[in-house]
Amino acid sequence: MLRAMDFEDVGSEIKYEFMMEKDFWMEYWQKDDMIFRDHLQSKIGRTINGQPISDEMWNKTTQYIADLMRCEKSHFFLDVCAGSGVFSDFFSTQVHGIDAVDISEPLLSNIKAPNVNKIIGDLSAIKLDKEKYDRVLFYFAIQHFSLQELPQILNNIFQSCKSGAVVLIGDIPDIEKKYDFFNSSERRAAYFNSLITCKPIIGEWFFRQDLVEMAKFIGFTKVTFLPQPGFCINAHYRFDLILEVER
Ligand SMILES: C[S@@+](CC[C@H](N)C(=O)[O-])C[C@H]1O[C@@H](n2cnc3c(N)ncnc32)[C@H](O)[C@@H]1O
Repeated sequence: MLRAMDFEDVGSEIKYEFMMEKDFWMEYWQKDDMIFRDHLQSKIGRTINGQPISDEMWNKTTQYIADLMRCEKSHFFLDVCAGSGVFSDFFSTQVHGIDAVDISEPLLSNIKAPNVNKIIGDLSAIKLDKEKYDRVLFYFAIQHFSLQELPQILNNIFQSCKSGAVVLIGDIPDIEKKYDFFNSSERRAAYFNSLITCKPIIGEWFFRQDLVEMAKFIGFTKVTFLPQPGFCINAHYRFDLILEVER
C-alpha cells in the first residue's frame, strides 16, 4: 500500500515545516524555476502534462471570457494577480487602460502592452483606488488566498469598482471536485503529503456557496455561478463567478 510518508521524504523538506502557506506562495512566485520558463503560459502553470495550453484552447478561452466581460474602449480594467500578463496583453486593445497587480515582479515584467500599468504588491495588503474600474478580472489566482482573507480582498475590489462594473472571478478550485483532480492513489498521496510538508499543490479549495454569500454580503448586486465550458483547461475541477456592481 502506498503511504504518504513513502511518497516523499518529509524530513528533507524541513525548511517548509513551519512555513505558512502564504509565505510559501510568496516565495514560490518570486523564485520558483517555473516562472523563468520561456512560454508565458508555462510561467504561470497553464499547462497539460508540462506543455503550455494549445493556441486553439487558449483562443476559445479568451473569446469566452471576453464575451462575459463585454469590454468597451472607454473602460478602465483591473487585472488582479495578472502574472505573466496573458490577459492584460489580450484585453489591452479592447479598453482604455489596465492596472495589472501582482506580487511577482519577474512575472509582471513580461507584460508588453503600453497601456498596462504594472503594480507590484500583495493583494491582501494593497489599497486599490476607489471607484476606478469598469471591469475586474481575478483569474486562476484565488487559490492563493484563504477564506479568512477574502472578505477584505473582495471588499477592496468592490470599493474599487464603478457603478455598472463587472467582476469575473475565474478558475476557482471547487472543493466538491477536489478528488476529480486528485483522482489516483499517487495524486492523493501527493496531496496529503503536501499538507504535511506545507508545500501546497493547488492552494485553497472553495465551496461555491461560501463565495456567493460572501460577495452578496460585501454588497455585489448580482452574483452568478458559471460552470466552465469543456474547452477551458481546468473545467473538470474549477468554476467561475460573475459579480456585478450597482450603486
Ligand atoms: C496561476 S497565476 C495566474 C496569473 C493570471 N491571472 C493568469 O490567469 O494568467 C497566479 C498569480 O497570482 C499571483 N499572486 C499570488 N499571491 C499573490 C498575492 N498575495 N498578491 C498578488 N498576487 C499574488 C502570483 O504571483 C501569480 O502571478
